[in-house]
Amino acid sequence: MTRHILQRQKAVVVSISMTEVESMPNVIDYRWRDSITDEEMVDLVLSHGGNPSTGWWPRIRGHSLGWVAARDHAGLLVGFVNVAWDGGDHAFLIDTKTRGSQQRQGIGRQLVRVAVVNAAAAGCEWLFVDFGAELAPFYFDACGFTHTEAGLIHLTSVSTTSDTD
Ligand SMILES: CC(C)(COP(=O)(O)OP(=O)(O)OC[C@H]1O[C@@H](n2cnc3c(N)ncnc32)[C@H](O)[C@@H]1OP(=O)(O)O)[C@@H](O)C(=O)NCCC(=O)NCCS
Repeated sequence: MTRHILQRQKAVVVSISMTEVESMPNVIDYRWRDSITDEEMVDLVLSHGGNPSTGWWPRIRGHSLGWVAARDHAGLLVGFVNVAWDGGDHAFLIDTKTRGSQQRQGIGRQLVRVAVVNAAAAGCEWLFVDFGAELAPFYFDACGFTHTEAGLIHLTSVSTTSDTD
């Protein structure tokens, strides 16, 4: 009896993979540290109305603890989030992006969830994020961040000559 049930379950799985996956446009694959080309990143940023910088992703990738790539059934990059870190307990979530045509479908929330799980698995204790006030519903309500005091200095407006010069 048990064997029969297992065989039936297996048959169902095979049936789905052969006939339905390619017609399931809403199935999104989320991968930690998936390979992403610079061209894909530029295309993703353009898709949500951002200003892409060619060479940005290859330049910063080496400073990441990891990142999450979301791809649709055809392999198209539909979402991304980066996790930078201090090499120890502290990780920083940055550059969350969902393809413009696929926003408000839960992709951003899932990108962050996968980043959180992997940062925790890597041994980090804290994950920080900052954002414009309009995105409070996304980061606080949908993604589970809590409010904290934080400080910020805009470094490009700081004089780089020392007082003793
Ligand atoms: C911010 C962003 C990543 C959200 O991605 P998303 O895939 O659309 O988010 P989700 O579908 O998972 O949203 C989950 C919930 O978060 C909230 N939310 C999402 N985007 C929001 C927005 N722009 N403003 C306010 N709340 C938002 C909503 O409550 C949403 O649930 P709902 O659709 O049922 O109302 C996406 O809007 C984006 O790529 N923006 C451009 C780049 C950007 O500004 N990145 C943020 C850098 S800090």
